[in-house]
Amino acid sequence: MLALIGGSGLSRLDGFDPVTQNKINTVFGETSACLSIGKFANKDIVFLPRHGNPHVVPPHKINYRANIWALKDLGVQRIIAVTAVGGITSFSSPGTIIIPHQIIDYTYGRENTFFDGTVNSLEHIDFTQPYNFDLRTRLIEAAHKEKIKIIDGGVYAATQGPRLETSAEILRLENDGADIVGMTGMPEASLAKEAGLAYAKISIVANWAAGKADSEQKITVSDINSVIQGSIAKIKKIISSYLNEENNG
Ligand code: HPA
Repeated sequence: MLALIGGSGLSRLDGFDPVTQNKINTVFGETSACLSIGKFANKDIVFLPRHGNPHVVPPHKINYRANIWALKDLGVQRIIAVTAVGGITSFSSPGTIIIPHQIIDYTYGRENTFFDGTVNSLEHIDFTQPYNFDLRTRLIEAAHKEKIKIIDGGVYAATQGPRLETSAEILRLENDGADIVGMTGMPEASLAKEAGLAYAKISIVANWAAGKADSEQKITVSDINSVIQGSIAKIKKIISSYLNEENNG
């Protein structure tokens, strides 16, 4: 089964009528919200808004371990994670949809492993390629099929938040090789890998990262939300198309 983890601007999924909703308490604590199971594009999927519904859980307080653990427990094998990001490099202008291929993790103080002795003993997973190759490829193919412009590849910088970055911090991330910046990409991706789940991300560039816009205008949450709302229909189309192909294959 496929799970869709929704980020900012995607706390609800229109056109998706859940049949069951489970608020799940795991050995790692409670999930961000109910896990909703229902049909999307004629296929059973699980939907989980990572900030809760309504959107109240800040990035550093999300119980990433409970979310991934509960999804695995429910029989999920693949996760498509949708996130809003700031754009750093020139191809990452607001409104662009990017399917990143790499991650740099700048977060701290988050519970970031299943291999801490709670349930599993120590293991060091390979994380050379953080996103699942097959799932990424299929999402990119689905976007091409729907003639939706996306960027194939980009380096996602995961920052701590909940504040946005300074312009110097963004220059540092750019020097490090980052193309986009968000607050929730880690440890979600590494936990999925630890759990043996295929995980890929679709990022919507909601704003120019700090200091990257031509004007001195402040980055506001309402601007971020309105750009995301403008892209949600495309994201849903990519995912529907992916699910249709999966049905046929
Ligand atoms: N920085 C970090 N996270 C974000 C941004 C940003 O500029 N925009 C949306 N999520």
